[in-house]
Amino acid sequence: MKSIASPAELRQILKEWRRDGQRVAFVPTMGNLHAGHGHLVREAGKRADRVVVSIFVNPLQFGPKEDFDRYPRTPGEDAALLESLNVDLLFSPSVADMYPRGRDSSTLVDVPDLSGILCGEFRPGHFVGVATVVAMLLDLVQADCALFGEKDFQQLTIIRRMAEDLLMPTEIIGVPTIREADGLAMSSRNRYLTATERVIAPQLYATLSIARNALLSGKADYATIEAQGRTILASHGFRPDYFTVRDAVTLQVPGPDTVDRVILVAAWLGRARLLDNVRV
Ligand code: PAJ
Repeated sequence: MKSIASPAELRQILKEWRRDGQRVAFVPTMGNLHAGHGHLVREAGKRADRVVVSIFVNPLQFGPKEDFDRYPRTPGEDAALLESLNVDLLFSPSVADMYPRGRDSSTLVDVPDLSGILCGEFRPGHFVGVATVVAMLLDLVQADCALFGEKDFQQLTIIRRMAEDLLMPTEIIGVPTIREADGLAMSSRNRYLTATERVIAPQLYATLSIARNALLSGKADYATIEAQGRTILASHGFRPDYFTVRDAVTLQVPGPDTVDRVILVAAWLGRARLLDNVRV
């Protein structure tokens, strides 16, 4: 595995691969890799001749009071895992490489219909930061496909829309959520949980599953299901930001045209903000 930091060098290597007719798959990450990331990388390997992974803790997607400084950084372990998964190229740029003018003077990408709702309501500016860095990375790599986890469902939806709106050539592929044996969705932020909270954390997915069954039984309306979900979570000690049923394509409240629905949750447990969702 080749490991580089320079965007210019990345472009040069990718140019050579494309000239040789190689298919390229790309997996962007913020590092501190776990089995969920590993699964994305394996799926990438099935779809291409070359796999590129980026590790960049993107300051633009963290709010001023958020965890940018304490976000877990484990470059040595990450590189070893990626090496074992036969990744061809690891791209780990510095903040100065990506934002030479500083965060306040950088060009931004916004997907207005989708970036202010759900998590966007609680994390202003977050999805502009995500869309901007992903647009830059997709442009640098010019991959045939890029893979993203359904765990971050709103993020995936925003990236799909951005790629469509900006006529990007890269196919955006969503990959199902990888879970711990007890149902907890794998996440770098799970390490913020204390031992006691870690025992409670699987109740997030359990509560989503209860809501999905209620929805499928057709006995309850959305408002009742959402209120029940929030009550169950609060009874376990979570502080939910939202627990809501949405159209899986538009992320709006389901309407007569809705084909697929998704139940989305964001909830605090101690100092960890956990996300999860289930399709219905
Ligand atoms: P990060 O949280 O490191 O996640 C990188 C990718 O791994 C994302 O597409 C995410 O959805 C996926 N992922 C995380 N946990 C997963 C799980 N349990 N199962 C399956 N996939 C999982 O998401 C980001 O980084 C950043 O916002 C990024 C897109 C890299 C832009 O900075």
